[in-house]
Amino acid sequence: MSTSNSPGDSPAAPSAAPPAGRTIVLPHRRATVRLGRAIGAACEPGDVVALEGPLGAGKTFLARAICRGLGVGASVPVTSPTFTLVHELRGRHRIVHADLYRLASEDDLEPVGLVDAAEGAVLLVEWPDRAPGLCRDALVITLGRGVAVGRIAVLRATGPRSEALAARVRFPEITATREGPAAS
Ligand SMILES: Nc1ncnc2c1ncn2[C@@H]1O[C@H](COP(=O)(O)OP(=O)(O)O)[C@@H](O)[C@H]1O
Ligand SMILES: [Mg+2]
Repeated sequence: MSTSNSPGDSPAAPSAAPPAGRTIVLPHRRATVRLGRAIGAACEPGDVVALEGPLGAGKTFLARAICRGLGVGASVPVTSPTFTLVHELRGRHRIVHADLYRLASEDDLEPVGLVDAAEGAVLLVEWPDRAPGLCRDALVITLGRGVAVGRIAVLRATGPRSEALAARVRFPEITATREGPAAS
């Protein structure tokens, strides 16, 4: 079998094949909220959560639930920072929520000040493929539509820090499937 994978490709780049990781079925919005809250409850300053998936996959919806899990009050709107690229929120920790959909090149990050803003914060990044350098050690969550209804989330950690974050997330399906084969 031959493949044309380039070894230099970014780990955060989207691929045609489903990424290897822990697959979680989210049959309804409530399940997405539960997953996000569990991730948010586990986040510590310096953690990076990358949210992949096409428009409408649920990235902002999940980011909102992560923020709630980080203690951002229900009255605080958590919306997509599509135009400003970055929103800052305050929960248990400082949170930087970025949506890089409109970022033409990673070089354009500097004027946005995202790297500096993310220092010591929890960083949530939508469209992380626009800036792979941000996600060298990130909990990458790839969202897609479920076969019948709902959404599928595939979680993978790209470094030791995000692996530790994944290990802290108290969500039954993650705990049950961690590093194990899909079927036994
Ligand atoms: N598990 C789920 N089942 C069905 N719909 C969901 C689920 N999780 C999220 N959604 C829906 O996905 C919609 C689109 O989400 P959004 O966060 O705006 O997408 P994105 O930021 O990826 O463009 C939300 O309005 C939400 O209702
Ligand atoms: Mg969005």
